[in-house]
Amino acid sequence: MEFVDYGFDEKIERKGTNCYKWDAAEKVFGGEVLPLWVADMDFAVPANVRRTLAERVLHPVYGYTFIESEEFKPFADWAAKRYGITVDKDHIVNTPGVVNAIAMAINAFTNEGDEIIVQTPVYPPFFKTAKQNNRAVVENKLKFNDGYYEMDFEDFEEKLKRESVKLFILCNPHNPVGRVWKKEDLARISELCIKYGVKIFSDEIHADIIFKGSRFSSMLSAAKGFENLIVAFAPSKTFNMAGLFFSIIVIPDENMRDIFKKQIEKLHIPAVNAFNGSMAMSAYREGEGWVEEMLSYVEGNADYVVDFIENRIPFIKVKKQEGTYLMWLDFRGKFKTSKDLKDFLVRKAGVGLNDGKDYGEQGEGFARLNIGCPRDYIMEALEKIESAFQGNI
Ligand SMILES: Cc1ncc(COP(=O)(O)O)c(C=O)c1O
Repeated sequence: MEFVDYGFDEKIERKGTNCYKWDAAEKVFGGEVLPLWVADMDFAVPANVRRTLAERVLHPVYGYTFIESEEFKPFADWAAKRYGITVDKDHIVNTPGVVNAIAMAINAFTNEGDEIIVQTPVYPPFFKTAKQNNRAVVENKLKFNDGYYEMDFEDFEEKLKRESVKLFILCNPHNPVGRVWKKEDLARISELCIKYGVKIFSDEIHADIIFKGSRFSSMLSAAKGFENLIVAFAPSKTFNMAGLFFSIIVIPDENMRDIFKKQIEKLHIPAVNAFNGSMAMSAYREGEGWVEEMLSYVEGNADYVVDFIENRIPFIKVKKQEGTYLMWLDFRGKFKTSKDLKDFLVRKAGVGLNDGKDYGEQGEGFARLNIGCPRDYIMEALEKIESAFQGNI
């Protein structure tokens, strides 16, 4: 069987594959929409990675599988080359997902009633997972200056002083605001968290989606110490394989690593299966050329969105993100409430974007647009929004 790379412009039919983004959209939005929401991409996985999976599928037995720390070498090489960090392969703990690792970290390192800091607006599972596990959420709201989000360090330190704050969940690069945090910001966070004895879960799942002019720094390179640190990576966003559930959690401190591993053992969570480990490592080994092409295509999409909005629907405010394939659109010029905005986007325009309010109360009047798709979809979505708005005047 031959495996060839698809062009990024190619519209691959995903309906009928139980695909959350396309097959669940009508139910989730309550109407037919062009779906630009859930954070996966509509692009085909690189051909050589699909070939690795297919070869494994051809072996007819799919029994219990393990992965040795040595087998994480392709990831360690990737991290050295692309993030400039040395990852000790023995520090890696493998989980089926990053959110699932967050839940395990919450249970491993905090107790019921403890408080967890998140920087809103932020990826909803950060605060949902905390609440579901009976932990209280403390918001260190990001400051919003002219479309640009920054951390509020003064407030952060005040929150860290609270006796029951035990964990901070960091999003770097940040979903949904698109910031790629600077090394000095990360160093300051690390210093403060060490000072107040608070652990850091640094979710770096979007580490590879970085646009020109920005530079990704991992907490592993910025931290002032490693005694309080968990850092999460995954091939899922980078190579578009979220449905295979494979994440790489780096915990440099031996004691923390043991506690985290005990959580996994206690819940009997199998991370590696017959397919995902070899496919993930094949992606890190062979997928770099594809990632470079994907990045330049997605950045082209971001430029297209900014240009279209500025010229044709200027009531929406948008700033090109530094990283991630997610754009954070500010509709407050015309729609004050999420309900009104949702009515407009779903019922009038027929587009499915994530509701900004789900990311925290500052997200009211915003929507998140996923641009990891053929440009045609983006053109169509923006034109639908433009004409719905014109019909709306
Ligand atoms: C910041 C962030 N963390 C985690 C996830 C999901 O990770 P997983 O599917 O590995 O649980 C996403 C997906 O959108 C995300 O944006």
